[in-house]
Amino acid sequence: MIAPPAQPGRFIALEGGEGVGKSTQLKMLSAALRARGMAVVTTREPGGTPGAEQIRAMLLDTAGDGWGPRAEALLFAAARADHVDRLIRPALLRGEWVLTDRFLDSSRAYQGGGSGLDDGDILALHAIGSAGLLPDRTVLLECDPAQAAARLALRDHGQNDRIGGRDTAYHARVAAAFRRFANADPQRFAIIDAGGTPDAVHARVLSALADL
Ligand code: TYD
Repeated sequence: MIAPPAQPGRFIALEGGEGVGKSTQLKMLSAALRARGMAVVTTREPGGTPGAEQIRAMLLDTAGDGWGPRAEALLFAAARADHVDRLIRPALLRGEWVLTDRFLDSSRAYQGGGSGLDDGDILALHAIGSAGLLPDRTVLLECDPAQAAARLALRDHGQNDRIGGRDTAYHARVAAAFRRFANADPQRFAIIDAGGTPDAVHARVLSALADL
């Protein structure tokens, strides 16, 4: 029999609107943790497993009519269920650190704050799909919308996916919702100013995880 790890792994989610630099920070954080000798798994949502990546394509491709908010929330929850079951929980049980680019709070902010679904309903879907698994820390990256737009223009050359392409009012509701969730749960969330150089933001992210 294989002995269980001395300490279960840690689960960290990076969250925030489009263009705040989550994927850059995820790469920098995983490199920093690996340099400290930790076993790290990096992943993203929607996606992270073959099944969840198939659901990602259904959600984000711009072909077809798209989904209503309720169907969209169910698909995100289904993708997350597979991701948690097949990738996140097994890695945590092996004692590894799991870093994910987006998780549950994106559903709460986009399908809830942005599209108007009830937060309690989204949490209920998460309870069914993923047994309510929450990150040990959720790092919310926030930056000025103009800076985010400039970063996105560089990255995407004006090509948005179905959700990223929604209007400014939608994205403002998403940002406000993230902020509300973070203020309501300061134990789990760390709000990080994502303005400035990647190195400066990285230092802030590390200090927000120091207690873990
Ligand atoms: P992605 O290309 O990963 O965007 P980004 O680089 O901004 O993270 O696309 C993910 C899109 O899906 C993004 O617009 C946010 C949206 N999304 C939801 O609406 N609900 C969710 O639960 C998740 C995980 C993502």
